[in-house]
Amino acid sequence: MRITKPFIFYGILLMALVNMGCKQSKKENQSEMEIETTASKPNPIEETTFGKMPNGTEVKKFTLKNEAGTEVDVITYGGIITRWTAPDRNGFYDDVVLGFDNLDQYLEGNPYFGALIGRYGNRIAKGKFSLDGKTYTLATNDGDNHLHGGEKGFDKVILDAMPKEDEEGAVLVLTYTSEDGEEGYPGKLDVKVTYTLTDDNALDIQYEAVTDKPTVVNLTQHSYFNLSGQLSKPVLDHKIHLNADTYLPVDGGLIPTGEFREVAGTPFDFTEPKLIGKEIEADNEQLGLGQGYDHCWVLNEGKDSFRLAASAYHEKTGRFMEVYTNEPGIQFYSGNFLDGTLPAKGGGTYVKRSGFCLETQHYPDSPNQSDFPSVRLNPGEKYTTRTMYKLSTK
Ligand code: BGC
Repeated sequence: MRITKPFIFYGILLMALVNMGCKQSKKENQSEMEIETTASKPNPIEETTFGKMPNGTEVKKFTLKNEAGTEVDVITYGGIITRWTAPDRNGFYDDVVLGFDNLDQYLEGNPYFGALIGRYGNRIAKGKFSLDGKTYTLATNDGDNHLHGGEKGFDKVILDAMPKEDEEGAVLVLTYTSEDGEEGYPGKLDVKVTYTLTDDNALDIQYEAVTDKPTVVNLTQHSYFNLSGQLSKPVLDHKIHLNADTYLPVDGGLIPTGEFREVAGTPFDFTEPKLIGKEIEADNEQLGLGQGYDHCWVLNEGKDSFRLAASAYHEKTGRFMEVYTNEPGIQFYSGNFLDGTLPAKGGGTYVKRSGFCLETQHYPDSPNQSDFPSVRLNPGEKYTTRTMYKLSTK
């Protein structure tokens, strides 16, 4: 058979076109597959708008998710954790942290629900401390004393947020620069706080800071927990364990007196799990001063510096929370100053003791108490501390 040149030309052209078409459709299939794989993978961080500040600045909300189904909402105002869901022993998820439904309610007056606390978590007596012979004066926003960083602590500033994903889970990095002299503290402080939600239901919090002048730092997280999921009900039915043989008694302004007191034989003994409600009304001078538990426990040292500090158990739902930290202390606050005036999420109000806080930290008033571990940070040093809240059931 004689094959003409034009026939060969058109034949080759046709084959080339068919081939291209195949390649093209392969490519399309491939990208469909790629899209499918991306789409079927849960997106661990969702970004939405939570509200607007009075000056118009947008407050963003990031929802961290894990494979287990837990979700943690964090807003850029105060780095506040506004929602944190956890399963009960039957796998039923509930929100286990106190907070509000909207930004306006946070702005109207928030008793630090879910907030990042800085520069100094807890109290500094009379709002004064000295460094290298110079006295610094801070706001006295809690009676005669300074509390949780002052009038506008880190709980009330807008932080920059960068969501990312790594092997550990969903990660939100929050950064903030506190200018030299802000709230009376010396030194420009660059702060970085990383929240990581892991697949085994732990929220790992890494705090970092550097300064350009000697200063004091004590960062913490102020979530109020209610593991029952019924956020407006008292938490007296939760069992607390604190890994601490001593605590710091306080004066009338809740400033440590300097004494390290044994917990044994007192209502402050949580070395074995004990219901919050068991002895909270006992006739005890320290409980009277705090109107319940509002004290710093001196954590026992462990084999590792990052050790179990506390746990909380709600028997009815089976929810169990462990707190790990490398900090020397933990403030256990039983929500004594909640008084039923603040609106609860989804309805009702936050009654007295409807939430408890386990705030890992250096001891209160450390800048004025030379027997306490130092909270001083010098230029060239890096402040790093870590706390992990791990939720499970039993
Ligand atoms: C303190 C309480 C205070 C509360 C603020 C806690 O860290 O220990 O005394 O009332 O924060 O809501």
